[in-house]
Amino acid sequence: MQQVRELKALRDAVAAFRAEGADIALVPTMGALHAGHMALVEAARRSGTKVIASIFVNPKQFGPNEDLSRYPRREAADARLLAEHGCDLLWLPPVEAMYPADFATNISVGGVSEGFDGAARPGHFDGVATVVTKLFNQTGADIAYFGEKDYQQLAVVRRFVADLDMPIEIVGVPTQRDDDGLALSSRNIYLDDEQRAKAVALPRTLGVAARAIGRGDDDDAALAEARAMLVAAGFEVDYIALADAETLAANPAPNRPRRLLAAARMGTTRLIDNVAIEANC
Ligand code: PAF
Repeated sequence: MQQVRELKALRDAVAAFRAEGADIALVPTMGALHAGHMALVEAARRSGTKVIASIFVNPKQFGPNEDLSRYPRREAADARLLAEHGCDLLWLPPVEAMYPADFATNISVGGVSEGFDGAARPGHFDGVATVVTKLFNQTGADIAYFGEKDYQQLAVVRRFVADLDMPIEIVGVPTQRDDDGLALSSRNIYLDDEQRAKAVALPRTLGVAARAIGRGDDDDAALAEARAMLVAAGFEVDYIALADAETLAANPAPNRPRRLLAAARMGTTRLIDNVAIEANC
């Protein structure tokens, strides 16, 4: 696996892939890679393209009181994992090359980015949209893979790709989970053993609420009960809410695809998760 840190080297490598007739897949990451990221790499490999993974801890998507400085960084281990999973190239842009002192552009997406994490983390999705746009332009990828665990992020990316006529296909990959159901996340390593044991209440509660809503129970009652279950398990709840699965609009009609989304803090660790609402489940 090639590793490149300069845009010129990246562009040369991409040109060499293109000269072989290959399409390019991109798996954008912030590192601290786990099986969830590897599911994205595997999906990319199955598309028969050259696979580029990027690792860039993007300062623009962290708020002033968030975990930018302590975000886990383990580049060597990440590179080994990517190589083992057949990634062709690792793109490691330095922060001063991504955002030089005179950088002045912001990609801001309306609608789909405004509720949920967009409301809880002002500026977060501007930071995501800006860096993902740069990564798409730098790699010239034909297809890019994102985890459904960050469901709103996936919806935001789909929105700006459509709005800006970007020639790239966006693929969402189902959330990868530990055996007990907790969604894999780079932030799970912040949990101590006791918090980790309690955190399983998040996917379990989402499952209970999704089944209740899917069989036609009152939405508000199911959400209130789910919130109480999370609080009883030791979570501080940011939101637990039902949204249209495409637009993320609140109060979706029952005949529309719907998604149940939650964000909650266990100690200082903020976890997010989401599940589809299946009718009659
Ligand atoms: O999901 C992530 O890891 C990040 O938000 C992304 C898409 C790599 C942008 O920094």
